[in-house]
Amino acid sequence: MKGGNTLSWITLGWIILLARSITLSAAITPDASKATVLDEGMNGYRKTEASGVILALQTRLERGETRLRHETRHGYLLSLLHELNVPVSSQLLVASKTSPNKALISPQNPRALYYNDQASVAYVPSAELIELAAADVKLGVVFYTLEQKESAQPRLVRDDRCLECHASSKTLDVPGLLVRSFLTKDDGDVDVLSGIVVTHRTPIAERWGGFYVTGTYGALTHRGNLFGAEAIARHEKDPACNANITDLKPFLEVRKYPDGGSDIVSLLVLEHQAHMQTLLTRLAAESRNALQTGDSLRPAYPAIEAVLKYMLFTDEAGLGSTVRGTSDFAHWFEQQGPKDKQGRSLRQFDLQTRLFKFPFSFMIYSPSFEAVPAPARKHFYRRLWDILSGEDPSPDYRKLSEASRKAIREVLIETKNDLPNYWRF
Ligand code: HEC
Repeated sequence: MKGGNTLSWITLGWIILLARSITLSAAITPDASKATVLDEGMNGYRKTEASGVILALQTRLERGETRLRHETRHGYLLSLLHELNVPVSSQLLVASKTSPNKALISPQNPRALYYNDQASVAYVPSAELIELAAADVKLGVVFYTLEQKESAQPRLVRDDRCLECHASSKTLDVPGLLVRSFLTKDDGDVDVLSGIVVTHRTPIAERWGGFYVTGTYGALTHRGNLFGAEAIARHEKDPACNANITDLKPFLEVRKYPDGGSDIVSLLVLEHQAHMQTLLTRLAAESRNALQTGDSLRPAYPAIEAVLKYMLFTDEAGLGSTVRGTSDFAHWFEQQGPKDKQGRSLRQFDLQTRLFKFPFSFMIYSPSFEAVPAPARKHFYRRLWDILSGEDPSPDYRKLSEASRKAIREVLIETKNDLPNYWRF
C-alpha cells in the first residue's frame, strides 16, 4: 500500500498524537495532566504482541486446525466471517471514500462492514485486501489485512499503518473503531469539513452521511442514502425522500454483496459499540498509567466517570419512531445473551424511544472491560452501585427511572460474576 517512509511518518505522527493526547485527555479527564504516561502504552503499541480473535484465527490457520475457503464472488469474505462468528446480517454499506481502498469505493461500489463485539471486517468488491480489526485486551484495537488473491496459505497480517486514521482525536487518541458522517458527493468523495464522529449521542438528523441505510423508521430524518448535491438539495425540500428504504436495487448491484441491505439496527449498535470500545481502551490505559506511576487511581477517576455515563446511555439521542431493520441482525444480536432467569438481557432492543430496553451497555461483558485493572473495576462498580441505588445525587442520572435502575441491578447480579459482594446483599 505505502512505501517504506510511511513508518517514520507514522512515528512522527505518534509523537504529535501523544502531545495532543495530553490536551485531549485534559478534555475528558480534567486533572489528568499525568496522562502523558499513556505515552508508554502508545510507544509500546508496535512492540507489544497482539492477542484477540483475529490472531487466534491466524494461529488456527497456521496449525492447520481450520482453513479459509475462497470463492469466486467474494474471495475469502464468507469463510472469514464464518470463522470469526461475525454475522452477514450485520452488513453495512458505506459509499464515502473514507478508507485506503478509496479509489474503488463509490455509491455504486460501496464498502461493506461486518462486525460483532470482538472483530470487524471491511470488504470492497474487487479490492485486493480485506481489512480487519479486533478488540485486543492490551492494545485496545489491532488492525489486520488479508489478501484476496487465492493462496495455499492465506495470512491475516497485522498492519499498524491503519492507525494513521484509526488512532486520532476522533478515537480519543487511542487505537479504535470509527463511525463518521459526511456530506457525500455523487462519486463518493466527501466534504471533509462536514465530517463528524458518530456515537449514540449524535442526533439522528446528523447521522449516516455516506452510508446506505435500510429499514423503516417513520418520520425520522437523517443524512443517509444521499449522494451528491442534487440529492442533498432535494432532501432539504422533502426530508422523506431518502427515508424508509428497504430495497437497494435501484441504487446499486446488490448481488455483489452477501446481504442485500445496510441494516439500520446494525448501524445503531455499531455507533454505540465503537465509542464504548474507545472509552474502555482509554480507561484501561489511564488506570494502568495511574497505578504504575503513583499509588493512587485518582487520575483515572474522570475516565471511569466517562465510561459510566456512556454505559448508562445518559444523553443518548432519542429515536422517537419505531425502528425496524431489513436483515436478521436484531434477532441474531438478541440471541447472544447472556440472559437472567426471567429471560432479560442487556442485548434486548427497545427501538421505539431508544436503542435498548435496559439503558446499560452489553459491552460490560466484553474482554475489554474485563481487561480494565481490578482496582479501577472495583471503583467503577462502587460508583455504579451508588448510581443504581439512588445514592448518587448527580443530575446526570436523574432521568434514569427506578424501574431501569432495578432491572439493570438484577440482570447484572445474575450475569456478572466479578461484582463485589455488597451487590448481592
Ligand atoms: C484514510 C483513513 C483510514 C485509513 C488509513 C484506514 N481506515 Fe479503516 N476506517 C476509516 C473510516 C472513516 C471508517 C468508518 C467507516 C467508513 O467510513 O468506511 C473505517 C472503518 C473500518 C472498519 C470497520 C469498523 C469501524 O471502525 O467502523 C475496519 C475493519 C477498518 N476500517 C479496517 C482498517 C484497516 C485494516 C486499515 C489499514 C489497512 C484501515 N482501516 C485504514 C478510515 C480509515
